[in-house]
Amino acid sequence: MKFSSRIGLGTAQFGMKYGLKNQQAPHDSVRAIVDFAHQSDAIGWVDTAAAYGDSERLLGELGIGHLEVFTKIPPLGGASQPIQMVHDSIRKSLENLQQERLQGVLIHNLDDLLGPDGQAVWKAVCSYKEQGKVLHLGVSAYDADKIKAAVKMFPDIEFVQAPLNVIDQRLLADGTIEFLQDAGVAFVARSMFLQGLLLLPPESLGTKWELFKPALTEVAGTARELGLSPLQLCLGFVLQNALVTACVIGANTLSHIQDILDCRPTPPIGDLSHLSSGDTRFIDPRFWK
Ligand SMILES: NC(=O)c1ccc[n+]([C@@H]2O[C@H](COP(=O)([O-])OP(=O)(O)OC[C@H]3O[C@@H](n4cnc5c(N)ncnc54)[C@H](OP(=O)(O)O)[C@@H]3O)[C@@H](O)[C@H]2O)c1
Repeated sequence: MKFSSRIGLGTAQFGMKYGLKNQQAPHDSVRAIVDFAHQSDAIGWVDTAAAYGDSERLLGELGIGHLEVFTKIPPLGGASQPIQMVHDSIRKSLENLQQERLQGVLIHNLDDLLGPDGQAVWKAVCSYKEQGKVLHLGVSAYDADKIKAAVKMFPDIEFVQAPLNVIDQRLLADGTIEFLQDAGVAFVARSMFLQGLLLLPPESLGTKWELFKPALTEVAGTARELGLSPLQLCLGFVLQNALVTACVIGANTLSHIQDILDCRPTPPIGDLSHLSSGDTRFIDPRFWK
């Protein structure tokens, strides 16, 4: 599967409070970012989700233009009628986004495919591809084991979106991304800046991050040694990898999006395995307290 650009625009922060700072992007910023994306060849698609508050509706109101839309079926856990929820969710996403068809739909919570309703859920999602209302089907994931199990169980998964950044190199190191390439499944990286944590000066972080400051100081130091900004390091690390089909970037302000695009082409960076951490309390924002 091909993506219209290597970089896609994340939109979680458009429709709800989100991320490290738990902030929602102001409407003026969202409008400026979307206007910019409409005019930019570098951004060909947006990543959104039914679960991102008002994000889909806002995008629909601002106009999608040439951008391709990838959205997600909300986590179905505990729903009394999960299949009905899949149908309702896709119909609502099309309506909110004011689109006739979607470039891609992802299952937001991979457990929904691996659980008892998985086959029926996937069949329901596939029916939209058969009707031509959805062009590509994928999953959002975190764990290698679940990614491999899902791809083996559902060989028509076309892409997997999962975290990859300088300190969370697990899917690279354990061969999962290579496994996906061998299976003909595109890999879409997200959380390249770990919600922005990797770009902040370690000394500016509060006591909550005390345990992780040495690792963050090492990231900043490595960038300095290579003559790069932390942004160039984080972006270059992901973009230099040919196994990464595309990536999602997140920002609340247009200037941050422009900074990201100005970093390209990123210089070759080489091996950064010394920066990788296995501490999920640090590398997985779901465990941040
Ligand atoms: N499928 C899933 O389950 C899932 C999970 C997480 C995320 N996502 C998707 O991925 C997108 C990105 O989210 P993420 O959490 O992974 O974030 P990320 O891309 O790792 O980081 C975004 C953060 O980086 C900061 N940033 C970006 N450019 C910057 C710059 N030039 N200078 C300084 N700071 C900069 C932003 O700060 P400012 O806010 O200050 O601009 C923002 O807070 C989301 O919007 C969503 O679409 C999907």
